[in-house]
Amino acid sequence: MEDLDPTYIQAPEHRSDSNFIPNQPEEIPVIDLSRLDDPEDVQNVISEIGDACEKWGFFQVINHGVPSDARQRVEKTVKMFFDLPMEEKIKVKRDEVNPVGYHDGEHTKNVKDWKEVFDIYFKDPMVIPSSTDPEDEGLRLVYNKWPQSPSDFREACEVYAKHAEKLAFKLLELISLSLGLPKERFHDYFKEQMSFFRINRYPPCPRPDLALGVGHHKDADVISLLAQDEVGGLQVSRRSDGVWFPIRPVPNALVINIGNCMEIWTNDKYWSAEHRVVVNTTRERYSIPFFLLPSHDVEVKPLDEIVSPENPPRYKGYKWGKFYVSRNRSDFRKLEIENIQIDDFKVKT
Ligand code: OGA
Ligand code: NI
Repeated sequence: MEDLDPTYIQAPEHRSDSNFIPNQPEEIPVIDLSRLDDPEDVQNVISEIGDACEKWGFFQVINHGVPSDARQRVEKTVKMFFDLPMEEKIKVKRDEVNPVGYHDGEHTKNVKDWKEVFDIYFKDPMVIPSSTDPEDEGLRLVYNKWPQSPSDFREACEVYAKHAEKLAFKLLELISLSLGLPKERFHDYFKEQMSFFRINRYPPCPRPDLALGVGHHKDADVISLLAQDEVGGLQVSRRSDGVWFPIRPVPNALVINIGNCMEIWTNDKYWSAEHRVVVNTTRERYSIPFFLLPSHDVEVKPLDEIVSPENPPRYKGYKWGKFYVSRNRSDFRKLEIENIQIDDFKVKT
């Protein structure tokens, strides 16, 4: 048995075998978006999306309009990047000034993830608060980092990201409609969106029983759209009982999940599920999530249309940008305490 650096070792209750029952039949819904072309089917699609957001916080979409060649181009070019020697990759290493680019030391909940990542802002430059201090209204611009090689890395990523963003807004509209809200209810929150996308590479791991590609976590965003390859490893915790289920790779599908912002806007009607990535001893795996994030000045709190005397707000509001910069700072090093979590904003009852 090979030794594993102790910084990667998950606590026993978070390892890949915990609360996982193999061969379970229940599947996360796969929704065919070409059904939206049939006016008689639109309402069914909307309710299926709503049900999935409530029950799982996860679903997959096919025929979603993101061209497969745009996706394949990114997949090909990023593999070439990750295969470069480390001294090349660290030329575009993430730093505390512009926290994007290459990174291989990420911690989720204070345990190191078995992966390498490359992060890219959707808007370049992107506007973020200059400090975590709630009183400080200062803003600053952050910029993408692009490797010199492979030469079409930037263009491949930018083309893919535009398609992903377009689909993200289409899904946002369908989600609004599923809540009985106007289609464009959320649009104003994205005038200076802080969306970003990430390329994850999970190398083969000698001890997948002890380490995880990504430890259990919820996404902090509005919705995530994830392209995963055919290897598999993503798992979601079922809302009703916390049992872990695999998200089966479906060719050309995108995995959609609800993040904390949407969970809070809907006052917990829609569920931001815990998920994690299990690794394996033989095959590397790639995934490309697009995280849809609001503008820095958006206050994330339960929507007025959703709260009522019978359904009082379960969260205090918080400013999205301040949350993001606090979280980001903590991603750089192992902290003595857990980093900031959405539950810190729960109303105590
Ligand atoms: C993430 C994530 C899942 C995957 O990056 O937040 O959950 O399959 N990734 O890579
Ligand atoms: Ni995630």
